[in-house]
Amino acid sequence: LKTPKAVIVIFGATGDLANRKLYPSLYRLYRNGKLSDNFAVIGVARRPLTNEQLRDNIKKSIADFNDTHIDADEFASHFHYNPFDVQDLTHYQKLDKFIDELDAKHQAGGNRLFYLAMDPNFFGLIAENLKSEGLTEPTGWTKLIIEKPFGHNYETAQKLNNDIRKAFTEDQIYRIDHYLGKQMIQNIEIVRFANSLFEPLWNNQYIANIQVTSSEILGVEERGRYYDGSGALRDMVQNHMLQMVSLLAMEPPAKLTPDDIRYEKVKVLRSLKPISEDIVDEHFVRGQYDRGEINQEEQDGYRESNGVDENSNTETFVAGKFMINNFRWAGVPFYIRTGKRMAKKATEIVVQFKDLPINLYAGKGNTIDPNLLVIRVQPDGGITLHLNAKQEDYETTSKPITMQYDMDGKAINRPEAYEVLLNDCLHGDSTNFVHWDEVALSWQYIDVISEAWSKKSSDEFPNYASGTNGPKAADELLENDGFHWWSVK
Ligand code: BG6
Repeated sequence: LKTPKAVIVIFGATGDLANRKLYPSLYRLYRNGKLSDNFAVIGVARRPLTNEQLRDNIKKSIADFNDTHIDADEFASHFHYNPFDVQDLTHYQKLDKFIDELDAKHQAGGNRLFYLAMDPNFFGLIAENLKSEGLTEPTGWTKLIIEKPFGHNYETAQKLNNDIRKAFTEDQIYRIDHYLGKQMIQNIEIVRFANSLFEPLWNNQYIANIQVTSSEILGVEERGRYYDGSGALRDMVQNHMLQMVSLLAMEPPAKLTPDDIRYEKVKVLRSLKPISEDIVDEHFVRGQYDRGEINQEEQDGYRESNGVDENSNTETFVAGKFMINNFRWAGVPFYIRTGKRMAKKATEIVVQFKDLPINLYAGKGNTIDPNLLVIRVQPDGGITLHLNAKQEDYETTSKPITMQYDMDGKAINRPEAYEVLLNDCLHGDSTNFVHWDEVALSWQYIDVISEAWSKKSSDEFPNYASGTNGPKAADELLENDGFHWWSVK
């Protein structure tokens, strides 16, 4: 693949995402030879900064890499700061000229990537102004990357989408779901479709249930204001969790093209068994964290965080059961669970296979556990297969054993999600971005749950202590079906 050429404009250049994720990711692409010298970045934000100040921030954001063979000043010299008022059309006109200037200087091929990493309330306005001031028709390509939250519900998402679509076509829009950039999530497809072992069993005849857990130790930290108006359902389930479910449940695509893969993912979302408000409680459990202890440290409760209402009715935990009404999956629950301030930071997928019709080894000294395929997404990526086998020399007994694959290399050398996604976008590969159809269908499902929850009393909260695995009802959700959460290493 040729290294891409482009002028990248980052709206929100002084923000947390830019500093924590985007600058380090661009740096890693640069260090790994995935970005040629033909690129420039214009950082756009409201506050007045100089180029030097922006470049200092960038050097700070990449200081941990400690690379001696890369000249950090040379990398930072590709970055320029442009103080900007998103309401002022003259600023767009100046930006247009500035992009042309940098394009000429770096031979960037007339390509423009606009990255909106800021308050989504301005996305529509920015898109509209970029178009009206002629920034969206360069001599090369134009692309737009947008960050979540993509709307607050179906209605607001649709409005946002309509606004953006007035300026950009669907294939110019790259909606980020950073989970799709994670190595082990991309591996779901490969494990399923590059092995003859699993696909024949990947259906309701052989799979008992699938469990997807994404737990965090951190609380809301400094994001209370955003989070209290959002909650775990919108923050994690509508996007990351449902994306993982669709990758696990989709049919093999005809080809590995973005369109073919998306088509199959959309079909899963369309096959979700609809839920109505009166049965939300049977399928979904909400939680909010209280005080508690993690690693021997006292933690405050959610309602004590900055920016959070002291009687907040916002959930910081969700467990749920999705049923997929198609031939492959009818009857197989897909359980999901996600929350803040839980016992550990981990994302894991457990596929539990059905029990054998009879157990020949039943009796003394024998244990037979169900076969599990565990896809460990983070912190350490890998795959574990849980089998039963003989261990002792003199007796034919069966014991649970595991076969384990760990992804090579330390986490630090592995490409970061944002790095992978930026690279894909620069190359025009939209496979791991979210299409509008997926956004629309997932909001339509999620809206029913949030509507039901908005009518519940906040007196239920808080209902789980920091450092635990959520409220008891999350365990009962599975117990009622005769299952339990597999907590696996
Ligand atoms: C983000 C959510 O999308 O994902 C955060 O807004 C959450 O609240 C984060 O902490 C989790 O991502 P990761 O990559 O740490 O699992």
